[in-house]
Amino acid sequence: MIKISPSILSADFANLQRDIEHISTADYVHVDVMDGLFVPNISIGIPVVKSIRPITKLPLDVHLMIDRPIRYVDAFCDAGADIVTCHVEADSEENIRKALVKIHNKWKRAGIVVKPKTPASAVLPYINEVEMILVMTVEPGFGGQKFMADMMPKVQAIRGYIDAMNPRCELEVDGGVDSETARLCIASGANVLVAGSAVYKAADISARIAELRG
Ligand code: DX5
Ligand code: ZN
Repeated sequence: MIKISPSILSADFANLQRDIEHISTADYVHVDVMDGLFVPNISIGIPVVKSIRPITKLPLDVHLMIDRPIRYVDAFCDAGADIVTCHVEADSEENIRKALVKIHNKWKRAGIVVKPKTPASAVLPYINEVEMILVMTVEPGFGGQKFMADMMPKVQAIRGYIDAMNPRCELEVDGGVDSETARLCIASGANVLVAGSAVYKAADISARIAELRG
């Protein structure tokens, strides 16, 4: 089954509760955390995760676009994150591995993320330690960018690794996913689709979520 994780980066932050209620037919709530250092933008953080936790039953899929995430994973788990993903580019392999252990010690799902220029093979050191691998299909930092179709071979390669080594691991894509590009992602082996603008610009959000599932 294809899962949809709408990104609240495209929501109206002055009406966040309303906009989270609008995505109740989705599978996850994707929360983009940016520190102005790992990516050239600043978004939302720990207090917002804590505030939205009680207003939805959906798991919170927290995408950490922050430098050295080991410093903050405990705080995000305590605030109510259910899935916490860390960029492999954001610290040494040893520290990313330690961050994943910290997330598991909080009984939460842990994942890794790869930026567009990072090869598929970069996930291999972590593949048995994660419940999710996220492949960026835009440069992280902003919603509303153009989908990079040239990431599809990487999604296919990582699908091959997952099937061979950790078949329960989820494979998520993030950036520029709309009803057209969703098909490419699904055909390449992704099972979780993040979509920000495609969901929140829709006149009928539930219909758009259903359409993205294919
Ligand atoms: C980009 C974020 C994405 C973004 C996706 O750095 O990680 O989650 O919100 O937005 P769309 O779907 O509009 O590309
Ligand atoms: Zn994201």
